Amino acid sequence: MLVLGIETSCDETGVALFDTERGLIADALYSQVDMHANYGGVVPELASRDHVRKLLPMIAKLLDDSGVKGTDLDGIAYTHGPGLVGALLVGATLAHSLAEVWGIPVVGVHHMEGHLLAPMLEVNAPEPPFVALLVSGGHTQLVAVHGLGEYELLGESLDDAAGEAFDKAAKMMELPYPGGPSISKLAQQGSRTRLKFPRPMTDRPGLDFSFSGLKTFTLNTVASMTGENGLGEQDKADICAAFEEAVAQTLMIKCRRALEQTGMQRLVLAGGVAANSRLRELMAEMVQKKKAELFYPRLQYCTDNGAMIAYVGALRLQAGEWTESIDVQPRMALSDLPKIKAA
Ligand code: KG4
Ligand code: ZN
Repeated sequence: MLVLGIETSCDETGVALFDTERGLIADALYSQVDMHANYGGVVPELASRDHVRKLLPMIAKLLDDSGVKGTDLDGIAYTHGPGLVGALLVGATLAHSLAEVWGIPVVGVHHMEGHLLAPMLEVNAPEPPFVALLVSGGHTQLVAVHGLGEYELLGESLDDAAGEAFDKAAKMMELPYPGGPSISKLAQQGSRTRLKFPRPMTDRPGLDFSFSGLKTFTLNTVASMTGENGLGEQDKADICAAFEEAVAQTLMIKCRRALEQTGMQRLVLAGGVAANSRLRELMAEMVQKKKAELFYPRLQYCTDNGAMIAYVGALRLQAGEWTESIDVQPRMALSDLPKIKAA
């Protein structure tokens, strides 16, 4: 089954072709990051307009480059949520229109299920059951994956998502958007030990997260270290290193606890923050001590992409699921998804 995947939930236009026999055939991504960087964050209306401009030519090129005609496709998958409603509508409308023209089925895919199953695109794919840490700009969740489509929420952020905390902390130090990569880059020149930032909610039981206190702590630290000439370069690097260490340690402690609590031996990291190298390093040390296994997608499939949507869409279309009318769901829970029936 050959499926076209479309991702337009936020500031990346992603398209991909996935074949259930041959795997990922091709994918392409256009990032709007430079456009939004001028505003210090994503401007929803600009995001929607840019998806309108880019999506159709990207699909035409993807098919052309792969020697695939629209009528060769067996289905289309698009992200129907969560995300920015206007941006989601661009993908949903085009997916349904093309499916109508080509006479093929179409299915809406949960963006976070895409992230969650992105490691399945790798040769060394994790077999459920596993614990997944989903860390993106909008979500921080620990999920027990009992099977495909069988997701149990173990814990989540009570306020800011981990990626959002990176983005906001970067803004405080006037570092470019998106904040995660900017902080991570500068942290390499900083000291992880000079400043100690809090590890929120690690001293009490439970698997929920909170990053707003860490945000305030960062703001106060930046204010106290800013002199007449602004924040010194070394001080900035040290704040970045301390902040990154605090987030990574917090996430690692909660993942260790989730493995212990569920008795599961596999851990999956997914979503944009899973691209963070310090986080990967700490998680690798932790799973090694536990004789557990660690999985994550390659870097380009950690952040938003069309491949993960084409993959999940192919599984769901193969299981006989399809979406009748244009629907977008800006907020929807992973645990409400139906189990993916074996094909
Ligand atoms: O999954 P994603 O591409 O989009 C959403 O669905 O939100 O995640 C984007 C988030 C941003 O907050 C960005 O700052 C963060 O992922 N991010 C990182 C890194 N690369 C991206 N955070 C920390 N370290 C990174 N290397
Ligand atoms: Zn995402």
